[in-house]
Amino acid sequence: MPELPGKDLARELIEKSRSESSATAVEQLIQAVRDDGLGEDRAHRLLGRLWTLERMFYYVYGGWGQGLEINDFPPSVKYLFARQIVDESTHEMLYLDALLRRGFAPSQKEAFRHPYGSFALDSALAYYVFSLRNLATYPHPIRIGALNLGPKILELGWMEKLTAAVADAELKGVFESQFVENRSHISMGRRIVEEFVVKPVEAELCRWACSVATRDYKRFLGEFSAFVLGREPPPPPAPRRQVTD
Ligand SMILES: [Fe+2]
Repeated sequence: MPELPGKDLARELIEKSRSESSATAVEQLIQAVRDDGLGEDRAHRLLGRLWTLERMFYYVYGGWGQGLEINDFPPSVKYLFARQIVDESTHEMLYLDALLRRGFAPSQKEAFRHPYGSFALDSALAYYVFSLRNLATYPHPIRIGALNLGPKILELGWMEKLTAAVADAELKGVFESQFVENRSHISMGRRIVEEFVVKPVEAELCRWACSVATRDYKRFLGEFSAFVLGREPPPPPAPRRQVTD
């Protein structure tokens, strides 16, 4: 069997993300949970923020799905993406169920209104979501490679560690049940980059998209971790200089 064209690129992106996954802002949250446990308010904050992020994937994937018909991709690529949409929607429901079951919200409607579960435009969470949504204009293998070999690897890394640190069996289950799907998203990203990111210009685009998605995800993690711990969020990056012509 001939060597797959994107094999080296996939390996490069995976190694880079793996090396970054053990040093995200969630480390401070994991340490705090190890030291003093999670507690009810932090559990509410944690579930509320992760639910807000997961439900935004309907918006991101909706945009990506529209562009999937522009290029002629084999059914396998479309099938895998459809699977990923279903998985992510399962995660969204999992978080909402946990919020309701623990009595953090009496109804779905109330969960949306609660500050821990509401979507704010002026947030690192929104910035990350818009950043991913922006990738809608790029070919599917590039954006799915960027997400699945970037933020998804970081996510699996901190989630495994946090799960190990959490004592509450129910919460552990909420996270553990996502591992299989998250691992399969990473494998799918690897396979798609290996097979479909062929030309040097595409490889460069994929590196760029992956670094942008990872940067914005890490910024979200900073805000997320501080929010769960009730600390001040990290300052936003310095504004870029406006260039006018
Ligand atoms: Fe997910």
